[in-house]
Parts: sequence; structure tokens; C-alpha cells
Amino acid sequence: MRVLGVETSCDETSAAVLAGHGDDATIRSLVILSQDVHRIFGGVVPEIASRAHVTALVPVVERALGDAQISRQDIEAIAVTNGPGLVGALLVGVSFAKALAYALGVPIIGVHHMEGHLFAAALEQRDAVPPFTALLVSGGHTLLLDVEAWGRYRLLGRTRDDAAGEAFDKVAKLLGLPYPGGPAIEREASTNGAVTDAKAFRFARPMLRRDQRPGDADYYDVSFSGLKTAVLHAARDVTSATPLTTLTRAAIARAFQDALIETLVEKTARAVQQFKRRRVVLGGGVAGNRALVAAMAERCGQLDARVFAPSTRLATDNAAMIARAGLFHLEHGERSPLDLNAFASLPIPGLAD
Ligand code: KG4
Ligand code: ZN
Repeated sequence: MRVLGVETSCDETSAAVLAGHGDDATIRSLVILSQDVHRIFGGVVPEIASRAHVTALVPVVERALGDAQISRQDIEAIAVTNGPGLVGALLVGVSFAKALAYALGVPIIGVHHMEGHLFAAALEQRDAVPPFTALLVSGGHTLLLDVEAWGRYRLLGRTRDDAAGEAFDKVAKLLGLPYPGGPAIEREASTNGAVTDAKAFRFARPMLRRDQRPGDADYYDVSFSGLKTAVLHAARDVTSATPLTTLTRAAIARAFQDALIETLVEKTARAVQQFKRRRVVLGGGVAGNRALVAAMAERCGQLDARVFAPSTRLATDNAAMIARAGLFHLEHGERSPLDLNAFASLPIPGLAD
């Protein structure tokens, strides 16, 4: 089946063509247009994002079709993100996809954005398939899942406040680093000197204690807002005496990243052990963080589990993962009606009780 994927949930306008069946499907084209305009505001401005999608979506789709060397008539189905995300931004993609599906007389399927992230690694690595433990870490969500099969998910833990990517973005902002904060913090944290000096700023690992047991509400959940506040106080303590030097900023960035990574790694390792999984799949923008992937691979390696992370291009928002998740549902006979709507929040389909 040849599926056109459409993604407009946040600040990336993306279209992709995916062809084939199930785990053998391959990406024929992928176009991602990142909206740079938000940088000057230090975060995504929803109204601007929606308008930018309106301008960009048609040419982005045309380019994806051109790159795949197919015409509109060759599209057999359309998969579109219909939540969760910025509702105005989502509506641009959903309205476009519905109109195109109607005009072409092909089926349309609404896709949950986070389920899309779950499929990203499998598009590049054949073994990144269920059963596995999944850690999805993006700008809006932090989810720990046990994935028994595609479409059969158990939600183990989530963030109680800030998402992992959001924590990176907020900490970057308070340290005077640019948006998006993740790549900026990662760059700072890996500079020479950051490691040694980070010891002066060791932050407590949020919601991570040895006495937690499976079944405890906080065994798998995470929380990053306290960590963000701890970073703020550390930075203020320094700047009350002297201006923040480049080295101190790098050290604080490193100490923050270490605390966040250790928390995510340990919670994931708990899930690997409880469900006896041999694979761990990462997804979402923060999965592009090399220090996180390396720490995860080391810890899970001790538990005989292999870690799969998508490339940066597929870790962040893209339409190929949406097309892949959509293909799964289409192949199971699912179709969305033409009154498909967009939702700011939406439960992941296939969750076990
Ligand atoms: O998945 P994504 O592209 O969009 C959402 O669905 O939210 O994730 C974007 C988030 C941003 O918060 C960004 O700062 C973070 O992913 N991010 C990173 C890295 N690259 C992107 N965080 C840590 N390290 C990175 N290298
Ligand atoms: Zn995302």
C-alpha cells in the first residue's frame, strides 16, 4: 500500500510517502519543514504555527510526491496526525488530508502523534519491533510503555508535570541558551570541562528512590519541574556573586542533563526487568540526545536488552512515522470517517487497562 503521511501537530510541517506492507514498508520520501520563526519568541507560538502550516503544507506535500516520483493519483491512503498537539496546527493537516482523501476517493486514518513516535525506530532498524519497552520523550510528553505488540500498549509511567523536552527547553532558556533547548544543552554539556565542574552542581534525581516498588504510584512516573527549579536556584546562587561564566553554564547544563538522564534510564530499566523485555525503543525529540542513548544502552546492556533509537531526523516530528502508524491501522481494516476532528489531548489507542 502507498500511504501519504501528513504531520502538522506542532512546529514542523511534514509529508512523507511510505510504500509496502507492515514492518517491510519503506520510506519513499520525507519532507520536513521546521518553522524557524518561533526561535525569536523562545518557544512555539500556536497562532503563528497554524498560519505557517497553511502556507507550507501544499508545497511540502507536492515535494514529497515529487521526491517519491509519484503523482497524487498514486496515493492509496492518507494518514494524518489528529492529536495530541496544538489544535489549530492539527486542524490544518486534518482539513487538508480530509479534502485530499475525498477528492481522490481514498481512505483516511487519523493517527495519535505519540503512537507515531513509537514506530519511528522501526523504519530504520528491522529489529526495533515488539515486544519491547518504550520510552517516548518529546517536547509535550514523557511516556514509559510496555509494548507487547503493535497496537497493544500498557502505559507504565508518565511525567507528573513537565515533559523531558520541555525541561530541556525551560532550563536552556533560564541559562540563556537558544530554543530548542535540547540540542543547545547537549552541546554545552559535552564541552570540555563540563564533566569535572558538573560535580559541584549535583542535582537530586527526581522521583527516583531505591525503596520504590512495582505497584507504587511513583515507581515509573517522573517529574521534572522540581529539577528545573533546582537549576534555577543553582544559577541564581552563582550569579548573585559573579556573572555566569561559559564554563559554569556548561557545568550546570551537564549536571541537569545527568540528573534527567539517570532518572529516565533507571525507570526504563525497571520496566525492562519487570516485563523481561530484551529490547528498548526510544522515540521523540529527546531520543536524539546521544548522552541519553549511550547511558540507556549501557544500563540496558547489563540487563541483556538492546536499545534502539531513531536517527535525529526520525526522532523529531516527521510524517514518515505517522504514515507507518497509519499503515498499521489501515492494514487492520480501520478507517476514519470524513468528520475526523483534531484534538489537543487524545488517549493512545490500544491501551490495556
Ligand atoms: O518530538 P519532538 O520533535 O516534538 C514534540 O512532539 O514535542 O520533540 C521536541 C523536543 C524539544 O523539547 C527539544 O528541545 C527536544 O525535543 N530535543 C532534545 C534534543 N533534540 C531535540 N532534547 C535533548 N537533547 C537533544 N539532542
Ligand atoms: Zn513529537
